Amino acid sequence: MAGEPAASMTPRMASGLRIPVHLGVIMDGNGRWAKARGKRRTEGHVQGVGALRGMVELCITYGVSYLTVFSFSSENWSRPPDEISFIFNLLRRFVASDLQRLIRNNVKVRIIGTREGLDPSLVRLIDDVEAKTAGNTGLTLVVAFNYGGRAELAAAARQLAHEVAAGRLDPDAIDEAAIARSLFTEGMPDPDLIIRTSGEQRLSNFLLWQAAYSEFVFVDEHWPDFNEASFLRVLEAFSLRDRRFGGIGATGS
Ligand code: IPE
Ligand code: IPE
Ligand code: MG
Repeated sequence: MAGEPAASMTPRMASGLRIPVHLGVIMDGNGRWAKARGKRRTEGHVQGVGALRGMVELCITYGVSYLTVFSFSSENWSRPPDEISFIFNLLRRFVASDLQRLIRNNVKVRIIGTREGLDPSLVRLIDDVEAKTAGNTGLTLVVAFNYGGRAELAAAARQLAHEVAAGRLDPDAIDEAAIARSLFTEGMPDPDLIIRTSGEQRLSNFLLWQAAYSEFVFVDEHWPDFNEASFLRVLEAFSLRDRRFGGIGATGS
């Protein structure tokens, strides 16, 4: 078929649906979910973990290879300290409650984002989760935690500059591949599809470089309400997209 995407992007078909190889999710709306129910914002974050658990299972069932979820942005530090520490503790609780299940389900976990400035015990926990799941070969679950796309690109620029200064890299050799391998997502395909819940239509600094050719689907439901029916609706929308990558695409003549 004309306009077939590159091999690494080849979608898998399941019940007529096109399945993204790499799915990104901006899990937004926990606070609004809670507010609409007269609850504290933190309760929304607790329910959001339940939706994440469901999403991991859906990705395994439908054959998604990489799931990247945005769980705390470098800009979320501007939130009240109580909410920040609650979210950080939630990550610890998620690891405590779900690590064994993730291992059983052959899920490989990667945590991307800035580790400097995080509590050393949290960094140890992150390292431990990655090490314990490193040999798994099923779904790769990438948790973007303390992550910002601009910070990631600045870190990549710094790393490349150091290599140049040390005489290990010719400045003329800095191409797109050199930048891509200096990012947290080194070795991963770019996201085919990015979902954002809760009605906002922006990236909020998520995977800036990697999203160059991603399809976007924005849904109105808040993240804690996102379920299998929502997932299937998103996949139906994605399946109808004509991904052209600058070419003329499947419907071009
Ligand atoms: C997403 O939900 C979770 C994080 C950003 C940590 P929000 O907390 O942003 O919820 P809203 O957008 O305020 O409703
Ligand atoms: C993006 O959501 C970050 C996460 C989902 C972790 P925000 O709620 O922080 O984004 P803005 O502030 O509405 O753009
Ligand atoms: Mg939000």
